[in-house]
Amino acid sequence: MTLPISLRAALASFALFVFGVPAAESAVTPDKAYDPAHDDYSFANTDAFVTRHLVLDLSVDFPARALRGTATLRLERLHPEARRVVLDTRDLVIGGVRVGPAGEALQASAYRLGESHELLGQPLEIDLPDGFEPGDTFDVEVTYHSTPGASALQWLPPSLTAGGEHPLVFSQSQAIHARSWVPLQDTPAVRITYEAVIRTPEGLRALMSADNDPEAAADGVYRFEMPQPIPSYLLAIAAGNFAFAATGEDTGVYAEPELLDASAWEFAGTQDMLDLAEKRYGPYDWGRYDLLILPPAFPYGGMENPRLSFITPSVLAGDRSLVSLIAHELAHSWSGNLVTNATWRDIWLNEGTTSYLTARLMEALYGKARADEERVLDWNGLLADVDSVPERFQPLAAKVLPSDGEGPQQSMYYAKGQFFLEHLEHQFGRERFDPFIAAYFEAFSWQSITTETFLEYLDENLLSRYPGIYTREQAGEWLYQPGVPADFRPPTSRTLQAAAAAARGFGAGRVDLDHLDISGWSPHTTVNFINELPAPLPAEKLAAADEQFGFSASRNAEITRAWFIQVAKRRYLPAYPAMEEHLARFGRMKLIVPVYQALAENGQDAELARELFEERRDRYHPIAVSAIENALDGAAQKTQIPEDGP
Ligand code: BES
Ligand code: ZN
Repeated sequence: MTLPISLRAALASFALFVFGVPAAESAVTPDKAYDPAHDDYSFANTDAFVTRHLVLDLSVDFPARALRGTATLRLERLHPEARRVVLDTRDLVIGGVRVGPAGEALQASAYRLGESHELLGQPLEIDLPDGFEPGDTFDVEVTYHSTPGASALQWLPPSLTAGGEHPLVFSQSQAIHARSWVPLQDTPAVRITYEAVIRTPEGLRALMSADNDPEAAADGVYRFEMPQPIPSYLLAIAAGNFAFAATGEDTGVYAEPELLDASAWEFAGTQDMLDLAEKRYGPYDWGRYDLLILPPAFPYGGMENPRLSFITPSVLAGDRSLVSLIAHELAHSWSGNLVTNATWRDIWLNEGTTSYLTARLMEALYGKARADEERVLDWNGLLADVDSVPERFQPLAAKVLPSDGEGPQQSMYYAKGQFFLEHLEHQFGRERFDPFIAAYFEAFSWQSITTETFLEYLDENLLSRYPGIYTREQAGEWLYQPGVPADFRPPTSRTLQAAAAAARGFGAGRVDLDHLDISGWSPHTTVNFINELPAPLPAEKLAAADEQFGFSASRNAEITRAWFIQVAKRRYLPAYPAMEEHLARFGRMKLIVPVYQALAENGQDAELARELFEERRDRYHPIAVSAIENALDGAAQKTQIPEDGP
């Protein structure tokens, strides 16, 4: 460990305060103190040992809400004298540790759990037994079980599933939660292959980010193999009453039987997306690509667990309008899973590049107009972030990445990364940029890299190769400076512009609802209409709009999200019952956190927001619970009236 994160953040702002200059020395150099070889979010001593392979043998214990069994790590010693292995854990109960030569008899070894850290969990320190000399590789077996509050796991009672009869559990390991269900080196800089035996109650099916077999008998014992090396945050598990439907030769969907048909219909285009992505960005080297549609409690839209993306059911809009989420998770098979950010400070390499690929896939499959609608919504989001996110978090390679749920900063790295790559594309033309991106994936396949490695590669293979177009310094502005460089041409969309004009006209009384026919609008256009409604707007106008367009009752979760944010901000009380239902229906953070926040910040409903949250907290994933708590605490600080003001 170097300095704790909060301390580092404090020091960075201290430097800014004292010297009056940004801590980064110039516009184009990274923070000198930043050590790309070390991950501040892990206790693991990866300079001394690295994991090569993991063997899991786990039972899914629903009554106790625990995974229990063993994790055996095959480690390589890098430092010839190192004798203490440090692993990451969080809220694990350790039963014992054994160590031995690879694949041979093991002997008990001394271990201890270190001091607990709020964000990082607890280091598990294991001493190699006296006299034991590891060869090239050796095995460490940890017997353990997880605890009910494990930050990665959500244990759903039957009542929170579609079928209502069977329990269900799933993991969400990104960014640093794998350690709450497996003791390991929890850093994206280390890649491992794995195999697993998972035991479930009979009749339930276990699935992993591995070689799932749609035909396997549901007999309660499942074997998995993941032969491609992956970072720990891509370890994933789920168990429940899952059925399977094919959507193509190499693609399919798992869901509870009640959602299976609707899911297979909504995501019927997955095979086409995969085929196109392979043609553009190189072979898909993972085997199958399936989706797992989870209950609405899933805290994200999607998670790119390899071979099996986990997906929120909130994109089952019934019209395939929200499938860019699938394009996004699929695109991670290249940007993120094949070429991985080495530390969380480099997350834009995963999310920004993926957002760029998503827009390109959407454009090729559904046309430029639709892709541009999504680009403009993302651009508007980025403008809002630039206004609200503290400047030190705004560089793509921000020195400190706030933890999950600590504020809205994350979205910044998606859109800013996407537009950085779009900007490069505009400078060099697609005929040069597309092959460059494909070659980049090939060059760093199965590797974890930092922003600086990317910049080096960019310079050598694009900037210097076609001199006089764009400089390394200009690229450095996106990577190491706040805001967006002034020479970027933002995306535009005629349909979204028309919706914004209609919203303004309606607000000003120039546009009559009778003359506003939105039946032909895309859901994205409708979202923009809602977002652009001017403030203030009399309640009668909100009532008329809701009555005519049915926002409160929409089946499209992006429309209800946008609407209920406005409802909460504007304190439009007649829609509160529907808003409260929305907050109970979904556990996806994007859909609910901003609504809680808007309520807490509207000047009158901070208490109501807390009450609604307390009533619903059992329905939410541990990650979502802390995100909402942070949002409510943040709102309280913002709206607090100073006690002894002037
Ligand atoms: N990998 C992310 C989810 C994630 C990011 C989990 C950071 C934990 C920490 C996933 O691919 C993602 O970006 N999901 C988005 C999809 C959207 C941008 C299309 C989501 O969940 O909304
Ligand atoms: Zn993503």
